[in-house]
Amino acid sequence: MADFFELVAQRESCRKYSDRPVEREKLVKLIEAARLTPSACNSQPWKFVVVDDPQIVPEVAKTVQHFGVNEYFANVKSFIVILEEHATLMPKVACFLDSQYWAKGDLGAATYGLTLEAASLGLGTCIIGLFDRPKLIQLLDLPKGQRFFLVVAVGYPETEKEARPKQRKSLEAIARFV
Ligand SMILES: Cc1cc2nc3c(=O)[nH]c(=O)nc-3n(C[C@H](O)[C@H](O)[C@H](O)COP(=O)(O)O)c2cc1C
Repeated sequence: MADFFELVAQRESCRKYSDRPVEREKLVKLIEAARLTPSACNSQPWKFVVVDDPQIVPEVAKTVQHFGVNEYFANVKSFIVILEEHATLMPKVACFLDSQYWAKGDLGAATYGLTLEAASLGLGTCIIGLFDRPKLIQLLDLPKGQRFFLVVAVGYPETEKEARPKQRKSLEAIARFV
């Protein structure tokens, strides 16, 4: 098993994909990894739509090429659309007591877990926040008021190479020890 820190360092946003389709079993594993994510009061405020139908994938790719950005995803072979579900009663009560809104954090954790699992399977991913929500609702036949979280592009990277150096704030800038 790869060292966890190495996996974290290896995961990066992939914006160049090969034409190789992603095996269904691997896509299922990504959802399994997301399913095990912890969440406030175990509310699991998520649903996932896995898009790997070659007829539908290019249509989803069009919805993420929004505001003239995200053209990199034109030939991705699969997408995972992450939907926000309404919180169950307990997190609602906890939010009321502590004025916190937990669901986004839960969804972020699930999304990251899914991308790490993908990296461990040799897949590239890119989390996509900019997309045409009304078009995606229509395309995936979702309820009108559906809350989205993110779309994740999933595919085999065009080439296998070392991960890029990460551009991140320094440890000193983000953490203090007391
Ligand atoms: C919430 C969120 C939304 C993002 N939306 C986009 C996007 O619309 N298009 C894109 O190319 N990358 C998108 N990214 C990827 C970020 O640009 C990327 O994670 C960041 O630059 C760090 O690079 P790395 O993922 O390679 O480590 C998004 C990432 C997150 C977490």
